[in-house]
Amino acid sequence: MKKHILVVPGDGIGQEVTRVGKKVLEKIAAKYGHEFTYDEALIGHVAIEATGEPLPDETLIKMRASDAILFGAVGHAKYDNDPNAKVRPEQGLLKMRKELGLFANLRPIKLFDELLSSSSIKPEILKGSDILFFRELTGDVYFGEKKRTADSASDLMIYHKYEVERIARKAFDAAMTRGKKLMSVDKANVLESSRLWREVIQEVSKDYPEVTVEHQFIDAAAMLLIKDPKRFDVVVLGNLFGDILTDEASQIAGSMGMLASASVGESTGVYEPIHGSAHDITGKNLANPMASVLSAALLLDISFGLKAESRDVISAVDQVLKAGFRTGDIADENTPKEKILGTVEIGEEILKRI
Ligand code: IPM
Ligand code: MN
Repeated sequence: MKKHILVVPGDGIGQEVTRVGKKVLEKIAAKYGHEFTYDEALIGHVAIEATGEPLPDETLIKMRASDAILFGAVGHAKYDNDPNAKVRPEQGLLKMRKELGLFANLRPIKLFDELLSSSSIKPEILKGSDILFFRELTGDVYFGEKKRTADSASDLMIYHKYEVERIARKAFDAAMTRGKKLMSVDKANVLESSRLWREVIQEVSKDYPEVTVEHQFIDAAAMLLIKDPKRFDVVVLGNLFGDILTDEASQIAGSMGMLASASVGESTGVYEPIHGSAHDITGKNLANPMASVLSAALLLDISFGLKAESRDVISAVDQVLKAGFRTGDIADENTPKEKILGTVEIGEEILKRI
C-alpha cells in the first residue's frame, strides 16, 4: 500500500514522542511491504516562532495533501499565565480541527493488564475496563462566539442538530460493533444546548433499536467513571465535557502517557496522544512515547484499514509492558522487577517487538 503521511510534532514532548511514533510506522512499512512517504510541518509555539502564525498556510496545504497525520502536541508555558496573549499555540490546533472538519474525536481507554496497579483506582474496580469515547470536536463553547467587554466575558455554548447527529451516528455505529451500549453525557437539567443534544440522540437511537442508550449528566458521569468504570462502553458527548471527562478517564489506563486519539471527519484524519506538550519534562528523554505509538496504531487501522499491522503495534506495546519496561509515569514502586527506561530506549524495545 502506498500512502503519504504528514508528521506534525508541534511543541514540547510532541517532538520526542512523535519521533518514536514515526519509527514505528517505518518499521511496519518495512515488515509488511508498504510504501509510506513522509513530510513534516510546523504547528503551535514552534510555528509562531518561525512564522508568526500558530497554523501556517503551508502546514494546512500539506495536511490536506496527505493521507493521514501523525500529530504531537501544542502548547507552551509562556502563554498559560498571559491571558492577554493575542496569538496562542492552541489556536493552531483548533483551526486545524475546524479546517479539516475533524468533528469526531475517538479516545479509546483500554487498560493494559500490566498497568492495573499503576492507577490510583483499586485494581478490582478497574480490571476489564474498556471504554470508547466519541468527543464532538468542532462545535460547542470552543467555537461559539466569544465576547469581551471591560468587565465581562462570554463564550457561546452552541450546537446545531446536524453536528449532534453526525457524531451520534458514529458512536451508535461503534456501539453496534461492541457491547451495544451507548452512554450520552450532557447537562440537560440546566443547558438548552444539552436538551437539543439529548433530543437528537433520542431521534438517532430509533435507527439503532439494538443499542441500549443511557443518558447521564456530566457531574454524575464524572462520579460514575471512578466508582464503576466497567459500566461505560461507548460514550458520546460534547466538546467541553469530552475534554474534561477523557482526562479523568486517562487515569483508568494508568497514565495520560498511554492514551491515543483519532480525530476524523470530512478529510485527512489526525492521530495524536491526548497528553499535552509537558514542558516540565521536555528534552529530558523522560516522556512516555506509548501514546504516540498507539496513535500510529489507530492511524494504520482507521485511515488505512490495516488491521493486522495495527494489532502488531499494540501487541508490541503489550509485550514491552509484560517484559517489565516502564517510563516514569507508569512506574510503580511496588513492582520491583520493573526497569525504568527513557523515551528513546523504550521506543527501541517496542520496535524490536514489531
Ligand atoms: C485536547 C487539549 C486541547 C483541547 C487544548 C490543547 C486546546 O486539551 O486535545 O484535549 O482542549 O481540546
Ligand atoms: Mn484536553
